[in-house]
Amino acid sequence: KVRVAVLISGTGSNMRKLIERAEQTDSNCEVVLVVSNKPDALGLEIARSFNTATRVNPHTSDRISGDLKLVKILQDFGVELICLAGYMRILSGEFVKHFPSRIINIHPSLLPAFKGAHALQDALEFGVKVVGCTSHFVDELIDHGPIIYQKSIEVEESDNIETIRAKIQKAEHILFPNSMIEVAKRILNKEI
Ligand code: GAR
Repeated sequence: KVRVAVLISGTGSNMRKLIERAEQTDSNCEVVLVVSNKPDALGLEIARSFNTATRVNPHTSDRISGDLKLVKILQDFGVELICLAGYMRILSGEFVKHFPSRIINIHPSLLPAFKGAHALQDALEFGVKVVGCTSHFVDELIDHGPIIYQKSIEVEESDNIETIRAKIQKAEHILFPNSMIEVAKRILNKEI
């Protein structure tokens, strides 16, 4: 099985879905570690409730040294695939170089539109009629890299930011676990 780490900064609802999917009997991967850059991230509690190992790698003034500590933690756990599930810190090119085609991200927009930390708010302010979510491989640019899956959602007259956010999250909770399984399959088949 492919050894997976999930990186979080907050609630961890996507992380929970990844762990649950990996625990299904037909799964080709195993979530061996959850790392948060925030010590008080709610997701850490959830991970512990699944008996998944957790680590905190707090913000350091020097991004590279913080990222190299993270590399070491991931290597110690023999991690082969890294899932960014609401990890709200930009990873340095130095970090990405250590894990080519081994980092995937979930983002709440139809990339390449609306990158960044406020994607949904920006999309709604722009007045878009279709929103969505994207899973993609991570390269050294922000919210950038080859797309794995995408799902679009129409904005209805009766929607507000919270109802739309809930619809996007529901879609993410299917799309991201499916992406993890798909990428694990490619790793096991030595396609990447
Ligand atoms: C998710 O909606 C994810 O798409 C978003 O953060 C949320 C985390 O929720 N990520 C980004 O905006 C990355 N740019 P969760 O902690 O409940 O999984």
